[in-house]
Amino acid sequence: MYNEIDLDKIDLNSEFPTEEPKRQYHFMAKGQKWVREFEYKNNRRPCFFIQTFGCQMNEHDSETIAGMLRTEGFTETENRESADIIVVNTCSIRENADNRFFGQLGSMKKIKEENPEAIIAVCGCMMQQQHITDTIKEKYSWVDIIFGTMNIYKFPELLRNCLENRKKIISIYDAQEKIIEGLPVERKFRHKSFVNIMNGCNNFCTYCIVPYTRGRERSRMPEDIIREIRALADDGVKEVTLLGQNVNSYGNNCNFDCDFSELIYKINEIERIERIRFMTSHPKDLSDRLIRAFADCEKLCRHIHLPVQSGSTDVLRRMNRRYSKEDYLNLIEKIRTAVPNMAITTDIIVGFPGETEEDFEHTLDLAERVRYDSAFTFLYSIRTGTPAAKYEDQVSEEIKHARFDRLVEVINRITAEKNAEYFGKTVKVMVDGKSARNDKGTYAGRTDTFKLVNFNADEDLTGKTVDIKITDAKTFSLFGEIV
Ligand code: 5AD
Ligand code: SF4
Repeated sequence: MYNEIDLDKIDLNSEFPTEEPKRQYHFMAKGQKWVREFEYKNNRRPCFFIQTFGCQMNEHDSETIAGMLRTEGFTETENRESADIIVVNTCSIRENADNRFFGQLGSMKKIKEENPEAIIAVCGCMMQQQHITDTIKEKYSWVDIIFGTMNIYKFPELLRNCLENRKKIISIYDAQEKIIEGLPVERKFRHKSFVNIMNGCNNFCTYCIVPYTRGRERSRMPEDIIREIRALADDGVKEVTLLGQNVNSYGNNCNFDCDFSELIYKINEIERIERIRFMTSHPKDLSDRLIRAFADCEKLCRHIHLPVQSGSTDVLRRMNRRYSKEDYLNLIEKIRTAVPNMAITTDIIVGFPGETEEDFEHTLDLAERVRYDSAFTFLYSIRTGTPAAKYEDQVSEEIKHARFDRLVEVINRITAEKNAEYFGKTVKVMVDGKSARNDKGTYAGRTDTFKLVNFNADEDLTGKTVDIKITDAKTFSLFGEIV
């Protein structure tokens, strides 16, 4: 956690500031008082449970919510049923995310019946859509707080109002809010951290809801980002992942003079930071300067996630991606020439409206030519409010699924072949902790190229970088031995 402020020094009798985040620290101080009284009465601290759907951006937002609650004195619980505050941070990128959320919300009615004092809060991308908040108001009366993606920083205030007045609070902003600096953030890992560098997206790909739920692009000031990363490094962080919907347009239309590649050069100078990663890049904005940064900056990991979405120039045009199949292949060529061992991953959508068999074959062809290290594949999902939702030539579910299966087969074969190239090699692995399938002493970590490596160790090496000789390569992971 960075930027810890002593809440005891805040005078609650003074007027509440209007300036942020000062104002929220006042509410956190009030919250702390409430938490202490709760503890005195109940002989335990109140606890929270956060469920997060969706991307890293959402995960990071949840870390901010957790950071604010912890600052007030709440503890975290893994058990939703016993939580005093439940927060669900939603995603609306595809329809199944919506459905899962409503399923979850339905199951919370019982929690509220058993513990009417519990607070149920929902936030995130889904809340930025009117039809969703209308449905919640109408059908899910047990929800206490609804807030959006642009006012997460206000959570302490919303929570206080809800607890003190015991009334439903709904607070969604559509207007652009400037980014609020200096909120407490909780990290899942001690040795690595997400760092948000910008919010929003200006690209309006025709299938995508994000520009509507996260608003226009806003970049953080470079000095704020550097200050945060220095503080993280002081706190033991060795790896940072810079987050933005399109990091390549960092700094565009801003009142400072620093583009994304310059930001990388600056971060590369920060002592004790060993690895720099970033997500996500739009191919149309990937500059030669950034490619050069890969060669110049030894801390910048040799992995790029470069969503292609489709291999058909025609589909790409209707997606409003603003590059052709050839442009994308040329870009890959340029990257591979400058950084020969770069790992490349991507996102691909199958079954975009009007996608023909020939269009789809272009996608297969592109996948074969690029030879991705791995790829996330998605079935096109209609998102209300986006241009593509109104396109008439929607592809049938049957064809979508059949194409999806064919694509996954190609992608997985290539991923397995790429992983097999690691066999017998010794790689540097930054250890994240115990392996997900932890059978006693199995640990997991990532190579510079983002390959997942499992290995056995007698001691806990979390956060350390170790040399591992790869002895087995599977489709989705590598296995090795410490050397
Ligand atoms: N349907 C399917 N996949 C989508 N994505 C974004 N919007 C949609 C949609 N409507 C995918 C894109 C994007 C990733 C985060 O989610 O591939 O890169
Ligand atoms: Fe969505 Fe396109 Fe923006 Fe990515 S670049 S968030 S796909 S609109």
